[in-house]
Amino acid sequence: MKEITDRRITVAIDGYSSSGKSTMARELARRVGYLYVDSGAMYRAVTLYALRHGMIGADRTVDTDALISALPSIRISFAHPGADGVQHTMLNGEDVEREIRDMQVSENVSPVAAIPEVRERLVALQQEFGKDKGIVMDGRDIGTTVFPDAELKIFVCASAEERARRRLKELLEKDEQATYQEVYDNVVERDRIDTTRAVSPLRKAPGAIELDNGTMTRGEQMQWLLEKFNEATDE
Ligand code: DC
Repeated sequence: MKEITDRRITVAIDGYSSSGKSTMARELARRVGYLYVDSGAMYRAVTLYALRHGMIGADRTVDTDALISALPSIRISFAHPGADGVQHTMLNGEDVEREIRDMQVSENVSPVAAIPEVRERLVALQQEFGKDKGIVMDGRDIGTTVFPDAELKIFVCASAEERARRRLKELLEKDEQATYQEVYDNVVERDRIDTTRAVSPLRKAPGAIELDNGTMTRGEQMQWLLEKFNEATDE
């Protein structure tokens, strides 16, 4: 029987916001000893930078020119998992893992992620992370744009209601203030922007396997994903 480490592949996991794709991707990477990259965290880190530097107005209009000029000064990296087992996103050397998950960033990230120059820069960085394969990356355009040749592509979906419930639970666990309606509206609005933007809109990549995980437990999802992974590495 083939060892899973025989042939290192690229795994692209795309899907809607709060579909649980990051949890699945992180867990798969841990189990098979691959690098995990959360590409959404990179868009969130750029958004945090823009918010901190006054580049996003109260009406969510982004000062695109200012942000594009600042791109060379935005360094994003990932620190290895600490005692909490979570990989931390670093913005210019500062650990921003917690801050990039708050509602203010969530509410402003889609317009930032729609800027072609921002995408171009982050896609190049993502491709650099994946140049030696042995990587699991999750996001919106990983199977379509970042790694169109990935050996395993997964497209995760679940209803907006289910995803809003999950996201609210996560926020409340972190003592963040939010109501179901606010979170639901944010999920629907992000879906709308993510699927209709001109550059790399969220869509199922050719050859991607669809997973509707609305009624699956985490354990069932992991078993399903490991099966697909083993099939892909055996090919
Ligand atoms: O996966 P997430 O919710 O943390 O992603 C945050 C935002 O970044 C989301 O609104 C869409 C955007 N994004 C993107 O445009 N492309 C990616 N590859 C990953 C995320």
